Amino acid sequence: MKILVIHGPNLNLLGSRETAVYGDETLEAIDEQCSALAKELGVSIEIRQSNSEGEIVDLIQGAGHDAKGIVINPGAYTHYSYAIRDALAAVKLPAVEVHLSNIYSREEFRHISVIAPVAAGQISGFGADSYLLGLRAVVGLIRNA
Ligand code: DQA
Repeated sequence: MKILVIHGPNLNLLGSRETAVYGDETLEAIDEQCSALAKELGVSIEIRQSNSEGEIVDLIQGAGHDAKGIVINPGAYTHYSYAIRDALAAVKLPAVEVHLSNIYSREEFRHISVIAPVAAGQISGFGADSYLLGLRAVVGLIRNA
């Protein structure tokens, strides 16, 4: 069973980007934790990062062919990308939306997620653990389906 993990824009800068908000862990370190957890759960994962909305849409469409679920941190696209939302709705795979920060305790524009209504659920505010919780959640959904 393969799970696609997608990191959206600016997440490649983790470790140096707004460390007071996002912590000092690098994306590479988060990816290593995701890979270790995937191994423990007995699933394979593909992890991709993109700064571009169209590329994220392409990744989601591609997942429709070979993945069983998606964990996605859409970054700022969370708040306004109908294209990513529509792609998730189109592939009909369970998707868990994750955020490092608690988007509801930040600026008002971050309180809206256009992705959440098409996601199975959302995990927000646990730093790197948001990804690990998201991975566990999506694997649980698939196995219990
Ligand atoms: C984020 C929250 C978004 O509002 C922001 O634009 C990001 C990161 C998070 O993981 O906390 O890029 O998705």
